[in-house]
Formats: sequence, C-alpha cells, structure tokens
Amino acid sequence: MTDTIDISINKVSQSNIGTLDVHNIPFAKIYSDHMFEADYRDGEWKNFRIVPYQNISVSPANNTLHYAITVFEGMKAYKNEDGEVLLFRPEANAKRLNISAERMCIPELPEELFMEALTTLIKLDSQWVPSVPGTSLYIRPFIFATDEYIGIRPSDTFKFMIITCPVGAYYSAPVNVKIETKFSRAFQGGTGFAKAGGNYAASLYPAKMAKAQGFDQLIWTDAETHQYIEESGTMNVMFIIDNTIITAPASGTILKGITRDSVLTLARDWGMKIEERKVTVKEIVEAAKNGTLQEAFGVGTAATIAHIARIGFEDEVYDLGPIEEREFSNKVLFELDRIKTGKVEDKFNWTLKV
Ligand code: COI
Repeated sequence: MTDTIDISINKVSQSNIGTLDVHNIPFAKIYSDHMFEADYRDGEWKNFRIVPYQNISVSPANNTLHYAITVFEGMKAYKNEDGEVLLFRPEANAKRLNISAERMCIPELPEELFMEALTTLIKLDSQWVPSVPGTSLYIRPFIFATDEYIGIRPSDTFKFMIITCPVGAYYSAPVNVKIETKFSRAFQGGTGFAKAGGNYAASLYPAKMAKAQGFDQLIWTDAETHQYIEESGTMNVMFIIDNTIITAPASGTILKGITRDSVLTLARDWGMKIEERKVTVKEIVEAAKNGTLQEAFGVGTAATIAHIARIGFEDEVYDLGPIEEREFSNKVLFELDRIKTGKVEDKFNWTLKV
C-alpha cells in the first residue's frame, strides 16, 4: 500500500435521500448515495475512491462467482442527540475482517485504510444515518477476489468495497428458532470462525427447511455429535439459567461476535455470572421443559438483541414465556442502545465520532 491514503471522491449529482421514509425502513432495500472501492493489484491496495452507489461489472470467469472467495463485515452508525454520527467498535470490525481474510487467502487490508475509507464515506453520507429510535445506518465492508480464472488457486487480485444502507429492525418480532441436528454450519478446521460468504450460502437450505416448519432461524449444533449448541444463522446465542448467562465459547466453529463481546462485557460489569462453555442441547431443552430457562436471545450487529420466543427441538416446540419479563436481555438491549447513541458515558471507549 502507498504511504498516504488518498481517496478520490466523485459525488452523486442528485441525492437519493428523498426516497427514504425514516419511519418505515425495510432492511437493506435502499442504499446510500455513495460507496467506497479499492483494488488489490501487483501486491498492493490502490485506487482508493468513493463513487456514486452503482452496479459493478465482473467477468463471467470471476473466481468469486465460482468459488465464493469473499469475506465481509457488518457494523452500524448511529446519531447522537446533537445529530453527530457515532460508529460502534469499528476497529473490532477492521481486525475481524483480516482474520476472516487470511482463511480465504485474501491479503491483509491495513486497518488505517479500513478506518480512513469508512470515516470518509460515512462523513460524506452522514445524512443517511437515521435518528429515529430503533434505526441506524448498516455498514457492509467486504472484500472479494477478482481474478478472471476458473482454475482453483488463491487469487492475485481483489476488490475492497463499503456500501451502506439505513435500517430498522432485522427481526421485527421475537424469533422462533429450531435446534438443527441434521445439517451442520461448521466443523473444527473449517471456516466457521470467518465471516465468509460461503458459510451463509451453505446455511440457506437448512434455514429454508426450518422456515417451512414455521421457524425464523436455526440454532446450529456441532457437526460431530449435534449435542452442543453453537450459534444461530444470523447471530450468536445466549441463555440464562439460574441467573447465569451461558453461551458457547467463540472457538473455531463460531463467529466471534462483536455484539457478543459487548453483551458479555456489560454483563460482567454488572456483576452477572457468565459461563462461556460447551452448552448441551439436552440442558437447554430440559430447562425449557421445566421452566428454568429464564431467557434465550440472539446477539448480533444486524439483529442487535433478538428475543427468542420459542425453541423447537425434534417434534416439540417450547414457549419461553413473556418477553416483558426478560430482565437481562431487555436491560442490555436498552443499555447498548444508549451507549451507541451517546446517551450515556462510553466507559469502554466503544464509540467513534466521525
Ligand atoms: C450482521 O449482523 O452484521 C451480519 O452480518 C449478519 C447478517 C446475516 C445480516
């Protein structure tokens, strides 16, 4: 990479912001005016540019189209009460993107480039960051291979892009999840820890089957025995039994969620008991059956804190009781929102004003 990060900016002649109804934002349907693009060629990242959001063209022999050589991040920007834009833990996304990239033979993207690209783009499109409660600007940085070559080998060329879109809730209601014991998302030595496109492609069919049975999402179990809970399709999962938060360790098969870490950090700060350990399907189903499962919820950037209303396992569906009574998940959702929107002291230094 060159020493200076010189980003050229080509602005839209007319903003598309007029098409946005901030009181009714569908998830990821309307994209902001601009996007960031950079190319990796001859061993370095170059051609840093912000251009109007538009289609891109690739060769039909593009290796990502054939082999999913692509990794991505999900992050959000919020407005504080003064109308200033706050990013939530962007450095964590910059780091995780590179962890995912290494597994796919994608070259490292310098964190300063990530941050400069991100902050320049978000400043330019700051009017796209909505301020209505429950809304935010979803930010999708991603890298994909661009070699015109259908042989199997690591790519020589890549594109890094950032696109953004205002969003409301990813799940508009508490979710019903099915514990999946036939299909697998990840296995030791595989790509489960990476935010790689192929992980999500492979989850579509099992999730479609679950949807046909009335579920919104799956809870994945380990590929070897299907006896241990891993994560959900769009988020990590946590349970509360005996006033203790229980969640699977972010090992090789589980995405190391930034929201997961934020929730555990707050819980620790509040003196909650936490167990990051292998979680058996049996103990969760038993607790759901006998009423000792106090709370179950998903945690993710897009999903934020998603209450789990019902859990399906084999032929049974367990109703987990009223959402209003879920003390911890409601409190952590509220508190995270206050931190992200600058309403309380940011004691963990999580937000970055752009
Ligand atoms: C995110 O939470 O940002 C994700 O990338 C999950 C995706 C399924 C929307």
